[in-house]
Amino acid sequence: MKKNPYMISFPSGKGGVGKTNIVASLAVALSQRGKKVVVLDGDLSLANVDLLFGVNPSFTLQHVLLGEKELSEILVEGPPGVRIIPASSGVDELSQLREGERRRLIREFKLVGRDADFLLIDTPPGLTPNVMDFVLTSDLAVVVTTPEVTSITDAYATIKAISLRRPTKQLPVVVNMAGGEGEAFEIIERIGLVAARFLQVEVRGLGFIPSDQSVPQAVAEQKPFYLAFPHSPASQGVASLAQKLMQADRSVNGPGNQQIS
Ligand SMILES: Nc1ncnc2c1ncn2[C@@H]1O[C@H](COP(=O)(O)OP(=O)(O)OP(=O)(O)O)[C@@H](O)[C@H]1O
Ligand SMILES: [Mg+2]
Repeated sequence: MKKNPYMISFPSGKGGVGKTNIVASLAVALSQRGKKVVVLDGDLSLANVDLLFGVNPSFTLQHVLLGEKELSEILVEGPPGVRIIPASSGVDELSQLREGERRRLIREFKLVGRDADFLLIDTPPGLTPNVMDFVLTSDLAVVVTTPEVTSITDAYATIKAISLRRPTKQLPVVVNMAGGEGEAFEIIERIGLVAARFLQVEVRGLGFIPSDQSVPQAVAEQKPFYLAFPHSPASQGVASLAQKLMQADRSVNGPGNQQIS
């Protein structure tokens, strides 16, 4: 029997840590491994998942929230068969949805993606009520950070906010733009020590993606880097992330409670 889709969100404290690029490339990597993937652009006011996939949708979540379209009608397909639910850019009121609207959107997202294996949510940075709802409704929240001190501090704040809202034993963290595996390991250890001491949360390194010029190059080509440069160091990081997520044990409920290693 088919399992329910695995719904994963990628919160970060600080902006610009690479969430959108990681989600787009991870979607491609999972899709190339035979998985059905739907990506929700949860960045409701500065959408750019569609841009990264080089698709130009006529309808977006704005039309759904205005009641003009159903969610199933705005789905677009990007390469290689990744389905995308696009948001709109520059529509500020969308970033402050009412609670009822958010819940409706999440319900419909799960319905539209029920035949998928993975539902990936790209969120804006920070923990606004919109982001929090996406995070808390996910099966897994993967916190994204970079080696920058401010990013690490904000990642810890994100872990804290999540663990205060929902009992969380473990939270996976991905270090992006790392100089190397050693640096990523050190960062995980640093966040892990504080999280274990003050939050009783075990931080697990889910992966690291090196700083790699092929990422901005792929952005310029409007392609996920995993598609444009499949053998680049960044793509190797994403391949390993995809592999781990495909093997994850989903028997424990709640964001971040999964056993991954
Ligand atoms: N591993 C990497 N190596 C080099 N550059 C990277 C890497 N990952 C992301 N970038 C660059 O960082 C910038 C921000 O990436 P991205 O838009 O994916 O971040 P984000 O977390 O989604 O941002 P926001 O918080 O604004 O939504 C982009 O210009 C991208 O090219
Ligand atoms: Mg983004």
